[in-house]
Amino acid sequence: MEHEAIDPGSLPAREAYQLMIDLVAPRPIAWVSSMDANGRSNLAPFSYYQGVCSRPPTIVLGISWRSDGTPKDTLANVLATGEFTVNHVRREHAEAMNLTSGDHPPEVDEWDLVARAGVATLTPAPSRHVAPPRIAEANAALECRLVHAIPLGRGRGSSPSSTLVIAEIAMFWVARTLIERDDRGRLRPLDPARLASVGRLGGIAYTDTVETFSMRRPKVGSEGL
Ligand SMILES: Cc1cc2nc3c(=O)[nH]c(=O)nc-3n(C[C@H](O)[C@H](O)[C@H](O)COP(=O)(O)O)c2cc1C
Repeated sequence: MEHEAIDPGSLPAREAYQLMIDLVAPRPIAWVSSMDANGRSNLAPFSYYQGVCSRPPTIVLGISWRSDGTPKDTLANVLATGEFTVNHVRREHAEAMNLTSGDHPPEVDEWDLVARAGVATLTPAPSRHVAPPRIAEANAALECRLVHAIPLGRGRGSSPSSTLVIAEIAMFWVARTLIERDDRGRLRPLDPARLASVGRLGGIAYTDTVETFSMRRPKVGSEGL
């Protein structure tokens, strides 16, 4: 196969972004509920999102700064309070999730926005260890506490291009109907088709986990993770 080498240094920011989201795909979507220091709610999706460690359970988010050099509301809230929840996005919630991605001013409560648009019912359910609520109707939610916030690149003025948020999961919430246990009480893997997780691809394309395929891991010596 013949390839073209594309030097990121030669690319306008827009095209570098395009290649990133085209090629690092599919990406899971973190539907992040956060609150400012006055308890005002915010909800927005992020797909520079990944699980990176299981002990302790740790996730990362890449949140870009706005072109005017200000942080997005989610990032401002996470830096101010150190707390957020990540809510699972299933197929039926895709439209509502997308609606919350608009660049709404901080005073707009995206929970209300979704309710007023009538695209989904999202009920704030209390979290156990963090102040921001989770979405009661989501298949799952993660209560998260900020561990590190690492600035990446250079943006407008003295702001970074993006901030890498590293957070530990203080609580997993999983819909009871999705949980199955073996006869020793251990959790069985969740069924991806029933989770129907939505993933983001390049451009405005999305995928979901309804159609999947399976492969056993090769066994070489003692089994790793
Ligand atoms: C599916 C999806 C994934 C997104 N992923 C990211 C992301 O990883 N990082 C980011 O900075 N913005 C991302 N965005 C854009 C933010 O959702 C958008 O900037 C939003 O307005 C931020 O809201 P806030 O200012 O309330 O935090 C994404 C949008 C969509 C629809």
